[in-house]
Amino acid sequence: MAENLIEVRGVTRVYRRGGEELVVLDGLDLQMERGSFYALMGPSGSGKTTLLNMIGGLDRPDAGDLLVAGELLNVLSNAELARWRADNVGFVFQGFNLIPVLSAVQNVELPLLLAPLSRKERRERAEYALELVGLADRGDHRPKQLSGGQEQRVAIARAFVTDPTLILADEPTGDLDRASTEQVLELLAELNEKLDKTILMVTHDPHAAESAGYIVHLEKGKLGSIERNTPAPVGAEE
Ligand SMILES: Nc1ncnc2c1ncn2[C@@H]1O[C@H](COP(=O)(O)OP(=O)(O)O)[C@@H](O)[C@H]1O
Ligand SMILES: [Mg+2]
Repeated sequence: MAENLIEVRGVTRVYRRGGEELVVLDGLDLQMERGSFYALMGPSGSGKTTLLNMIGGLDRPDAGDLLVAGELLNVLSNAELARWRADNVGFVFQGFNLIPVLSAVQNVELPLLLAPLSRKERRERAEYALELVGLADRGDHRPKQLSGGQEQRVAIARAFVTDPTLILADEPTGDLDRASTEQVLELLAELNEKLDKTILMVTHDPHAAESAGYIVHLEKGKLGSIERNTPAPVGAEE
């Protein structure tokens, strides 16, 4: 039995707006194994982003426990949670979220500013991460000088440059064309297979979900089915 990296126990999240209460996650239980690649699917508004943010320590539940990468997140202070995130989680977003005035390599270096590294070590690591995503020759480019697919690959380099245990990707291919989508999915599969990263990727796209080893369905704040999936080998084109 593989060890669980993520244990979500009875997690409830309620948004309050005016007098209205919206129960987005309703006593959700979910376990995820270390070293696996999960796709999280569900209709718009079903709570996928809310769940991802909770697992990544960006948001807190109203009830329930989150045990992630050996830490019970509920009991951490905000400062401890920020430190835990920096050490354990890499985030990838649909809109890339690169800093426009920084070059690609400077964007990738950003999360390393919290690490005890010299300037030279930081630069070397960032350049190596860019090389792994196939963008060694684009380090000096600003985000707007890159294609959307290249921007997302820079964002992926930024997500793994700190060597996190867990990579959380919220609709990472949502704004990409077909060819860039394939590149991003291949990269995530490689990070999972070769660097042993646990990956949780939210997606609307059934084709994108096929890259994952498990497909988790969320319906109105409750867990639906979890399917086991056998992804095609990295690099195989149908
Ligand atoms: N900060 C917030 N305040 C109030 N309602 C929110 C907030 N964030 C999300 N919601 C609502 O919670 C529901 C789930 O949102 P979300 O987790 O973003 O769903 P998904 O990512 O599956 O589309 C939606 O109905 C959304 O409008
Ligand atoms: Mg969402």
